Amino acid sequence: MTPRSFLLTQELADHVRAASEPVDDVVADLLAETAAMAERGEASPTYQIAPEQGTFMQLLTRAVGARRAIEIGTFTGFSALCIARGLPEDGSLLCLERSAGWIDVARRYWERAGVSGRIDVRLGEALPSLRDLPLAETFDLAFVDADKTGYPDYVEELHGRMTPNGLVLLDNTLRGGRVLAPETDDDRAVVRLNAALAADPRWETVLLPVSDGLTLLRKR
Ligand SMILES: C[S@@+](CC[C@H](N)C(=O)[O-])C[C@H]1O[C@@H](n2cnc3c(N)ncnc32)[C@H](O)[C@@H]1O
Repeated sequence: MTPRSFLLTQELADHVRAASEPVDDVVADLLAETAAMAERGEASPTYQIAPEQGTFMQLLTRAVGARRAIEIGTFTGFSALCIARGLPEDGSLLCLERSAGWIDVARRYWERAGVSGRIDVRLGEALPSLRDLPLAETFDLAFVDADKTGYPDYVEELHGRMTPNGLVLLDNTLRGGRVLAPETDDDRAVVRLNAALAADPRWETVLLPVSDGLTLLRKR
């Protein structure tokens, strides 16, 4: 499998995977089906998070004892599957995603993994869906992996909805290295957000060089 991180050679990516807990058959089949869709040009080959990032997010969800989680940008459901597996039996994950087609794929694997009872999907544009949620509905963990120009609004809307110490994870915050020389509106939005978050006293912030950059925000 090709590395998802521009920071890793193929050999290092293989080593990282060999040194991490192996994926099970459900995950292997989901990765293979999504890769086949990408081969046929039906999906982006870079959308899905790397297997080791999925394992990390599952471990993190369990380690912080998250019970309620939210994801913005679900695609074929791999990151959601990992978060859901890290939740307790009575935990819940709310997924905001605009494409029903991707969710049809995701649901098959959530069923197989026995976590579909923990996952709700709200189809449509993520920002209005997020704004519609009552402020009393709080989350322990959030994963943001949708349109990059939307990230500032997602972070702002999430702040009031996170429990104290709640964790927000932002994906692709290194933009394949283009944070140093932004080329697109997405790149420029992430550069501005990275600078703003580092100076925002409401969050404890670290940008980890994991995959394509994974920023962790802890609500103070
Ligand atoms: C990078 S993919 C998510 C990958 C997923 N987290 C995984 O690991 O497989 C981004 C997803 O966000 C969705 N998306 C992008 N912009 C959106 C928006 N404004 N509202 C809702 N969904 C959006 C896309 O349809 C796509 O499925």
